[in-house]
Amino acid sequence: MKGIVFTEFFDMIEQEFGYEMVDTLLNESELPSGGTYTAVGTYSHIEMVNLLVTLNHKTEVPIPHLLQAFGRYLFQRFTKTYSHLINKAPDAFTLLGSIHNYIHVEVRKLYPDAELPHFDIEQPNDNTLIMHYSSGRSMGDLAYGLIEGAMKHYGEKATITQELLSEDGSRIKFVIVK
Ligand code: HEM
Repeated sequence: MKGIVFTEFFDMIEQEFGYEMVDTLLNESELPSGGTYTAVGTYSHIEMVNLLVTLNHKTEVPIPHLLQAFGRYLFQRFTKTYSHLINKAPDAFTLLGSIHNYIHVEVRKLYPDAELPHFDIEQPNDNTLIMHYSSGRSMGDLAYGLIEGAMKHYGEKATITQELLSEDGSRIKFVIVK
């Protein structure tokens, strides 16, 4: 997982809980890399999981909620740092439908070693988008928060339901209805 994901995560933690929590997470989590993240470095996604476990112990907020909140925060950050990619899409479904074939393709050009999920897209009608997520990192809750962030960015309301297609969370079907 790219360092940029970790640096954004710590920025969110500092905003939400203050710098002491950043310090606590760094000191009390199992972090084989040593916990000094640079934006272009690459680290095991297990370190993110370990940071979430510590944050869950400290705050008692369930891990899926923490990861969804991070997804919403991250999308809002992407609207600043990757505005050139997001501005090409006129609405949320166009953006969400283009993640796999465009946005993450551009991300890979910037970071050749990025570990990106796979999305298959179906749009059965104007109001419904179906996203089939698959990834060995099982970060569906992050995807959920990113989808929420995208809907909010475009000022669109939708209900998002998720169906687990494999027990380990590596395959999830998201149905987004406007
Ligand atoms: C402009 C918009 C976006 C940009 C620039 C972007 C970029 C990235 C980057 C840099 C990573 C980290 C790769 C790594 O750590 O190696 C990532 C991972 C990820 N992205 Fe995107 N992304 C965008 C939109 C989205 C959206 C809207 C979704 C939700 C459907 C999404 C789903 C994910 C997920 C779930 C991961 C975690 C890795 C995994 O599950 O395997 N992304 N993305």
